[in-house]
Amino acid sequence: MAMKQKTVLVTGSSGLIGSEAVEQFDRHGHRVLGIDNNMRREFFGPAGDTLWNLERLKRITKRFTHVDLDIRDRTGLEDLFRSTHFDVIIHCAAQPSHDKARDIPLADFEVNALGTVNLLEATRQHCPEAVFLFMSTNKVYGDAPNEIPLAELETRYDYSRKEDFAGVNETCRIDRSLHSLFGASKAAADLVAQEYGRYFRMNVGIFRGGCLTGPSHSGVELHGFLSYLVKATLNGWNYSVFGYKGKQVRDNIHSGDIVSAMAEFAANPRPGEVYNMGGGRENSISVLEAIERIEQMAGKKLPWRYVEEARKGDHICYISDLSKFKSHYPNWEITRGLDSILEEMVGSKKSRQAAAGH
Ligand SMILES: NC(=O)c1ccc[n+]([C@@H]2O[C@H](COP(=O)([O-])OP(=O)(O)OC[C@H]3O[C@@H](n4cnc5c(N)ncnc54)[C@H](O)[C@@H]3O)[C@@H](O)[C@H]2O)c1
Repeated sequence: MAMKQKTVLVTGSSGLIGSEAVEQFDRHGHRVLGIDNNMRREFFGPAGDTLWNLERLKRITKRFTHVDLDIRDRTGLEDLFRSTHFDVIIHCAAQPSHDKARDIPLADFEVNALGTVNLLEATRQHCPEAVFLFMSTNKVYGDAPNEIPLAELETRYDYSRKEDFAGVNETCRIDRSLHSLFGASKAAADLVAQEYGRYFRMNVGIFRGGCLTGPSHSGVELHGFLSYLVKATLNGWNYSVFGYKGKQVRDNIHSGDIVSAMAEFAANPRPGEVYNMGGGRENSISVLEAIERIEQMAGKKLPWRYVEEARKGDHICYISDLSKFKSHYPNWEITRGLDSILEEMVGSKKSRQAAAGH
């Protein structure tokens, strides 16, 4: 992160990726302002509460200021951008759940799509030279990746053709597929962000995340696959696996590796570029495999059941092809493998449980 001191705005700063961005940019000497209104609690109830993470950030950072602001509040954003000049904007605030969106289509669209336009436009008006990074998702492809021919193996699905081995790249189409309302609101934001890059030539980059993970996730059943699986195993909670025999594959990337990719982009921005950003083949795992690996690490069995019906628009096998990002930013690589991600998660959940006295 060899940039001279910058003023960085992080939205969703109490969430998984936002908090990691706060930590890393603060550690590298930048001034960080974070926006988060703890809306994750409103979406998912007490288990989604992110205040513990905000308190943690306040304890460990040097130059971090938190603002309790809603990204839907255009006037509030206007005041903030008028009073502070930002060099980098890292936009992570979102309604992040594929399944939750069906219950709250309006709030989902307002936060994900409108909130993003609010931020892009405030940037254009007040600091058009800034680097703007938008955390998008692989759900913008809808279920189009399911058209890739698959082979069924003992514990997972995998691509059957050699040419698909590296995974899904950015040429996958984003329309004429089933997305979920979440995928659609994120796709709207993703397209608008691209326009601010391509049309206005602003330094906007778009990261389409696979499964993002790390110890600072307030994991809930509807969002945060590995985090919730670890929590459920440690607590002995019943877990449901939906469809595809539990052989559906996700690629997982540690929040630290996402943020180091952001720092690479911020140092050398390429206007309007879109990158698939997941763990890649090395960090891919099926639900069945994840259950087994976590049970071994936690030393406990997870009580789980199988539900025949798959989640609507779910990916059967999704592996992010990282070659485009790697070719543009050859200094970047994945530093955290699956075992190290899982061990850290099990360790941190155990110590949070111990601290909470249960
Ligand atoms: N976690 C994943 O697996 C994953 C995968 C692909 C893409 N993404 C994307 O990455 C981004 C970050 O995801 P995350 O896992 O850190 O999510 P998260 O839920 O942990 O963090 C999002 C934060 O935004 C805050 N927030 C929500 N609505 C807000 C609003 N209106 N105003 C201000 N703050 C608000 C929440 O309180 C929360 O702290 C999101 O855009 C998400 O769609 C996540």
